[in-house]
Amino acid sequence: MSTADKPVDHESTHGDVPDSFEDPGLPYHRPRRADVDPKAANKAERQVAALFGLSILGTILALGAYFMIDMTGEIASIRFANMMIGLGIFLAMMGIGLGAIHWAKTLMRDHEMVEERHALRSSDEARAGAIQNLQDGVEDSGLGSDGSGTSRRGLLKGSLITAVLAAPLALLVPQIGNMGGQWNTREFAHTMWRQGMRLTRDPDGTPIKAADVTIGSAFHVIPDGLNDLEHGKIEAKAKAVVLLIRLDPRDLKIQPGREDWSFDGIVAYSKICTHVGCPVALYEQQTHHLLCPCHQSTFDVADGAKVVFGPAKRPLPQLPIAIDDEGYIVAKSDFHEPIGSSYWTRLKNTSDGLSGDTEGGSH
Ligand code: FES
Repeated sequence: MSTADKPVDHESTHGDVPDSFEDPGLPYHRPRRADVDPKAANKAERQVAALFGLSILGTILALGAYFMIDMTGEIASIRFANMMIGLGIFLAMMGIGLGAIHWAKTLMRDHEMVEERHALRSSDEARAGAIQNLQDGVEDSGLGSDGSGTSRRGLLKGSLITAVLAAPLALLVPQIGNMGGQWNTREFAHTMWRQGMRLTRDPDGTPIKAADVTIGSAFHVIPDGLNDLEHGKIEAKAKAVVLLIRLDPRDLKIQPGREDWSFDGIVAYSKICTHVGCPVALYEQQTHHLLCPCHQSTFDVADGAKVVFGPAKRPLPQLPIAIDDEGYIVAKSDFHEPIGSSYWTRLKNTSDGLSGDTEGGSH
């Protein structure tokens, strides 16, 4: 009866442990089909090349989707383009990965390697052996020369090199191309808000009267005319979205220099978090706190939207508002500081009148 078949006696287990174990040896080596059948090897080679080819097709799909699908119009076409770019990148990466695995499993030499325990620094012989193994690996992969000066497995080599060189393009081209002509970062400092432009409801674009905004209510706001833009609507909206909130005027701490930026307790702040730009959309009526769901930055609307908690470093920019002759709420100007992440405010005293860092954030 073998040791494995004996019932375990926990009392005497320690006494039964032998000083050494017999080397079980290696299991019987079964050659793979590609090792013994040249047709199977050729088939495996074609499969590997097909996977690398799939990767190349994925790259072409991503680039084709980026260049050929209109991403400036309807949200549906933007979603479709993003889906195709994502699918292309997935195929580009997966094709290389699966091709490499299939290559190693079916075509590279299949033999057991035994590595004896030894001192941390390998002996000179072991080092020479490692180099030899590497050279054997190159030989096994078929990428080396066959002695006549020509490379074997040229199809694999060519498809692999093409796939590896092409795959990064699926990531880089959309990233760089999305900058378009906007390498001038000052473009990000402005929004489409202008003096006299009405604040309208998001998404239907109906204007808002001061009488509609009751104490404690909050409106998601876009600029009047945004829905009529033919180009760049998404970008314009991403910068100009605003939250309009009415507080009891007695609760409002008017910031110095902003005495005429609000109306009877109605204030408007950028909805773009000053941490890394998520939409700040959770308003807690009792505390007047606005919460960003991404990393929990919390802004006090009653006190200039200063940061009271979280990683944001500055208050939400305030949109100065007034009331027009018909009682609608209008902007008095664009924001007086860049919206969004604090990065842009590192540009101190820009010549277009934007201010530098605004104090008030917690750390
Ligand atoms: S983006 Fe708002 S807290 Fe991070």
